[in-house]
Parts: sequence; C-alpha cells; structure tokens
Amino acid sequence: MIFIKNKKEIEKMRAASQIVVEVLKKLEMHAKPGITTFELNKLAEDIVEKRGGIPAFKGYSNYPASVCFAVNEEVVHGIPSESKILTEGDIIGMDFGVCYDGYYGDSAITIPIGEVSKTATELMDVTKSALMAGIERAYPGNNLLDISSAIQNFAEDRGFSVVRSFVGHGIGKKLHEDPQVPNFVPNNSGNFKGIQLKPGMVFAIEPMVNVGKPDIKILKDGWTAVTLDGSLSAHFEHTVVITNNGPEILTGVRH
Ligand code: MF3
Ligand code: CO
Repeated sequence: MIFIKNKKEIEKMRAASQIVVEVLKKLEMHAKPGITTFELNKLAEDIVEKRGGIPAFKGYSNYPASVCFAVNEEVVHGIPSESKILTEGDIIGMDFGVCYDGYYGDSAITIPIGEVSKTATELMDVTKSALMAGIERAYPGNNLLDISSAIQNFAEDRGFSVVRSFVGHGIGKKLHEDPQVPNFVPNNSGNFKGIQLKPGMVFAIEPMVNVGKPDIKILKDGWTAVTLDGSLSAHFEHTVVITNNGPEILTGVRH
C-alpha cells in the first residue's frame, strides 16, 4: 500500500531530512585520511541526539550502528569499525537515516578521500547524475519505472552497471514503505509494479553503480555488500516528494 502524505507529514519528513543533511555535511567534513568509520558513526550519533532525532538504521534488522559505510568495492551496508581507517585515494559511501517526530528521512553520498583516480571520480559523478536524472522524472502522471529507466540508461550509457540486489523504497512513517523503487527496468515486473506517480508520494531513490559487473556478494559479517568482481562502487540517495509541480528533494541543501 502506497501512502500519500499530506502537507503536515511532508513538513515532518522535511525536518527529519534536514537532520540527515546536517549529519552528512559533518561526516563529509571529517572524512579525511586517518579517521575511522567508527569515529564518523559517533559524530553522526552526537548530532542526531542533539537534534532530538532517532538514528533510523540502528537496530533495523539488528543492524548494529547508525551509519552504513561503503569503501571502494563495498556497495552498501558496511558496519562502522575502529579498524576501518580511511586512506588517501579511497572513495566512501555514507548512508544515513533519521526518524524525527514519527517520520523518516534517508540520504547517501559518496565522496573522495583526498586525490582519487579518474575512474573513481567519473563513477561518483555518473552515479550522482544518474540519481538526478531519475529524480527529474518524478512528476505526477509519470510511471515509477520512468525513474528507474532514466537512472539505468544514464549509468549504462556511460559504461557502468547498476546494482540489482538493492532498490530504493517508499518512505514515511516507516523507513521502508511501498513501493520498491528499482534503479533498473525489471525484465518481468515481478515484485516491481510500474505505478502511476501521484502528488504526496515520497520515495528514497538510491542508485548503486559499479565500474564492473552489477553482481554483489555479502561478506561474512552478514551486512557488507561488495562487488563480486572487486570493482569500485558508488551510492547516492535522496528522499524526494512528488508535488504538483514535480519533484522536491527533501534531503537537498536548503539556503
Ligand atoms: N539507506 C538504506 C536503505 O534504505 C540503509 C538501510 S540499511 C539498515 O535501505 F541498516 F538500516 F538496515
Ligand atoms: Co534508503
């Protein structure tokens, strides 16, 4: 069931989303060679507590921390660790969600640690632009799969591949609501029903893009997803509401 959010609910989701934005900005500032993902996770938790929010991922399916990290060939869901030390040349995905006043916001960015390779830079640029290409299709009357195909085409036209094993999602009073938002057009629609987009729908759109093949595996910790071929992966995510005038990015930077 897809819930349509009213103005008051969207205001709460905007508030939650803006805490997420503040946290990701802070993490971006501190993500430098030598820092650990454990320390970054702590920084995130301190801000959320100060703002009166609840970290959305902590305890979700028993996930043990507040931020999901993904360094280099890691795709998503890397658990913060004191032994995970950032190094010049790494790229790191940082995925963070908050519940505030009963409503959720969810966003992810991938950033360079110091100088990174040309391929890494291009991968991050393409993944972010693929997300934006998808968001641009989030108009009332369009189909959900218009978003999916825009993301897929953008990434594949530039020689990269889109991960199939994880998808975006509706978001609201729960972190994960209907519908699933794939970053590709499924062969046989299966779980993924193309639906017509309506004002008040809110989606977390979150493409994961690989330099190599789209396949992934999960490490023995039960969480960390890595590319099967060891190639680099990037991840960007925004919480987006569909309005009469088109998409509004709730996790966007506000001036
Ligand atoms: N942004 C991811 C998602 O929406 C992170 C959730 S993972 C978990 O699925 F840690 F919360 F489980
Ligand atoms: Co999400």
